[in-house]
Amino acid sequence: MANGATAAMGMVLAFVAVAALCCAPGAAELPRLEHHRANNDGGSLKLLVVGDWGRKGTHNQSRVAEQMGRVGENLGIDFVISTGDNFYKNGLKGVHDHAFEESFTDIYTAKSLQKPWYLVLGNHDYRGNALAQLSPVLRKIDDRFICMRSFIVNTELADFFFVDTTPFQLEYWTHRGKHHYDWRGVAPRGKYIANLLKDLDEAMKKSTARWKIVVGHHTMRSVSEHGDTEELLKLLLPVLKDNSVDFYINGHDHCLEHISSRDSPLQYFTSGGGSKAWRGILRPNKDKLRFFYDGQGFMSLQLNQDQAQFIFYDVFGNTLYQWSSSKTRHPKPSTYLDEE
Ligand SMILES: *[C@@H]1O[C@H](CO)[C@@H](O)[C@H](O)[C@H]1NC(C)=O
Repeated sequence: MANGATAAMGMVLAFVAVAALCCAPGAAELPRLEHHRANNDGGSLKLLVVGDWGRKGTHNQSRVAEQMGRVGENLGIDFVISTGDNFYKNGLKGVHDHAFEESFTDIYTAKSLQKPWYLVLGNHDYRGNALAQLSPVLRKIDDRFICMRSFIVNTELADFFFVDTTPFQLEYWTHRGKHHYDWRGVAPRGKYIANLLKDLDEAMKKSTARWKIVVGHHTMRSVSEHGDTEELLKLLLPVLKDNSVDFYINGHDHCLEHISSRDSPLQYFTSGGGSKAWRGILRPNKDKLRFFYDGQGFMSLQLNQDQAQFIFYDVFGNTLYQWSSSKTRHPKPSTYLDEE
């Protein structure tokens, strides 16, 4: 099994290498990785989602990591998703910044977490050397770390569309204040976003996967500190609705939450409880809030042909909330049965 896992990792990395060669910035196709599962146990896909974590173990990061290891072992996870803000407060200084080991390698040490980690960048990552986190040099230090700006992970069951959401937020460009953002390879904003939305739309239209899942750092809908991200609601949400995306998964707000759209089947999940939390803010919006936890924790997702099951856990590994969505066997039109 260890060999199988290593082989799977080797395959993933081979695809990463190809993607890096073929897809220069501005190219019309998003980098695409194939995730082949090492142990095919009846066709379900299992993964963990954590966000907003890199604080060298402090603010309960280590406790969350320990429970991720335990839950990951029980589920037999295929991979881990990070919703960004991987390194506080200002990303990495460079590829040799020890924060990489201190906040990642030395923290997520459990055997079950020695799987590919698919990561997006958060706004705090852009405050440092953003290119460092995208560099293949990090993969030589810890080969789990697969971070790109926007990319697609194809599994047999689901297509995951990872979206670089930081450039969307206008405030980072106009009112920078004391923070510097590393826009190398991004500016000018308008062109970057237009290309990205076009590429995403094309990739989603081509997708035949059972489930379409989008992962970004920023919230679309949130009741916590940051609230909604208006630019994403205006620019990205129409693309998701148009392509019948099932779930939008994000971090940014340091909490765990589940919100249901009222005018589409889209479900919003925030998993941003990887370290510092307890903001003490709850501001409802017009969509339906199903679950909100203001503290630390993480999320698991288990997918098969007919069902997607989400579970949120706290720092003790206790289940806080569980929700499932079912799809019928008939592909079109898809029917969502709400198992509240
Ligand atoms: C760590 O988690 C416990 C349990 O939820 C909580 O009481 C405590 O305040 C947390 N510590 C920090 C620094 O957030």
